[in-house]
Amino acid sequence: MSARSGRAEPLIINGSVIAADPAVQAVPVDDGLLQRWGPWLPGLVREAVLSREARHRQGVYHTPPEVVRALLLLTLNTGSSWNEQTRVLDPAVGGGAFLLAAAELLAGPRANVASRLVAVDIDPLAVATTRLALALWAQVPQETLPDDNFLTGDFLDPELLGTRQVDAVVGNPPFLSQLRGSTARSAAARERIALRWAGVGRYVDEAAAFALAASECVAPGGTMTLVQPASVLAARDAEPVRQRLEATVPLVALWVDGGQRAFSAAVDTVALVSRRAAAPPTVRVGELAVPRPSPRSWGPLLASSEGVPALDRPVGVTLSEVATVTAGFRQHYYGLVGAVRDDRQGRYQLITSGLIDPLTNRWGARQCRFAKQTFEAPTVDLNAVAPDVSDWVTARLVPKVLVASQTRVLEAFADETGVCVPVTPVVSVEPHDVSSLWRFAALLTSPVATALLVGSASGTALSPGSVRVSASLIGELPLPNDESVWDEAARLAREGKRDECGRVMLRAYGSAGREDLLDWWRSRNPT
Ligand SMILES: C[S@@+](CC[C@H](N)C(=O)[O-])C[C@H]1O[C@@H](n2cnc3c(N)ncnc32)[C@H](O)[C@@H]1O
Repeated sequence: MSARSGRAEPLIINGSVIAADPAVQAVPVDDGLLQRWGPWLPGLVREAVLSREARHRQGVYHTPPEVVRALLLLTLNTGSSWNEQTRVLDPAVGGGAFLLAAAELLAGPRANVASRLVAVDIDPLAVATTRLALALWAQVPQETLPDDNFLTGDFLDPELLGTRQVDAVVGNPPFLSQLRGSTARSAAARERIALRWAGVGRYVDEAAAFALAASECVAPGGTMTLVQPASVLAARDAEPVRQRLEATVPLVALWVDGGQRAFSAAVDTVALVSRRAAAPPTVRVGELAVPRPSPRSWGPLLASSEGVPALDRPVGVTLSEVATVTAGFRQHYYGLVGAVRDDRQGRYQLITSGLIDPLTNRWGARQCRFAKQTFEAPTVDLNAVAPDVSDWVTARLVPKVLVASQTRVLEAFADETGVCVPVTPVVSVEPHDVSSLWRFAALLTSPVATALLVGSASGTALSPGSVRVSASLIGELPLPNDESVWDEAARLAREGKRDECGRVMLRAYGSAGREDLLDWWRSRNPT
């Protein structure tokens, strides 16, 4: 390994040239490092010299060069063309990774290319580092790059860029969760967000706020390629953000960090590629062209990338309009703790998720765990239930369908006699019209219900392999249109014929012939 002496470069911070310490000249530098990283080196140094605490507070997690290049190529492969006039902006430039990669893809002499790149960061050292990196890349003195392309300030401050627009916005904005004190924005900044974008919650993640601000800098026909936390795809509080983006810069492609966590931040990451133009009917995800989902949830895009068959959510009446759907809360769980004993002759059966199989109640046949104890036949003594939840428990003693949580497919059985007591987080679906009980059992064990839940909750599930079940998500499930086919499925559900019932339910939902969906659902079912 050969080494040579360091090279001292000045930094231009807010217009002032800060000369490098001459002592740097004497520091030996590994030649291989210089050759491998070249102009990318200043950015790496900038990240390396920040403390862990500062990185966390400002969301400084640089993007690996290969990821940056893949994102820009994806942008160019989805119909954008860059020419000798194209201007590119990075609103959270860090060490300049995105601008360097863009420089290599832009047409024109290097000095001219570098003069069309705009860098913004709240940290003056980041902006100065980027200026140095771009000058090294273009092999021009830093002073020859236009000063007003290097802006230190808060990108969410509308005055920083005014009405300036560019042809491409690229970058990896900070992911500052607003639910943690150490990264939450100030009250003034929250107020600014609420005033600037009506309907967008003041606690929306910083990265999502960046996407909104960035969308306003995109010229007609231009693109926006932004790394985002996966939660922006499906989180409820990000719905107004998705709606605004869809109306101004509709999504054209989604990049998914293939589970390898390319970033050092401990969050699942995606990148949105959007264009200020009419929305195309499909969104590209890897090699797939996925039907454009509604801004209610972009989870179906992520689900497609995980092999979940795409499905348009049928519109119409939902379960919560024809049934009471409830899962109880913590107090309902703890209110049962002193009221359960093992008794095979007992009348009221305590049902945990583990006792629920598709169309089958395993009470008495399988052990279960409740309140740190193992039971063979957990029976509820109604007189011993805590007084504050006893009305709630009694109200559950009606015919209903009980749905397990954290399973790979929705698993549910019908409690015809109303003797089962669900324990949180089991969801109880109690039909207003009892004669619909088996219909609901068929609906809740159908491939459509599982695909819809997995799709809409993608990006927010606790573990990617399982369905996130909650009373509200279950309540939003749509009813099938074809009532007579639904009755046929209800009969099969009553006979415990899970697979046949699943196939017939596809017909009831107008999705007959969707063998892909059926195969996917069967492969996830317990054997
Ligand atoms: C995730 S790093 C991205 C770095 C760069 N895009 C890259 O991939 O190498 C986020 C950057 O956002 C900057 N930042 C944090 N809050 C900001 C704000 N309100 N306005 C502009 N930049 C901000 C941080 O200083 C940090 O450099």
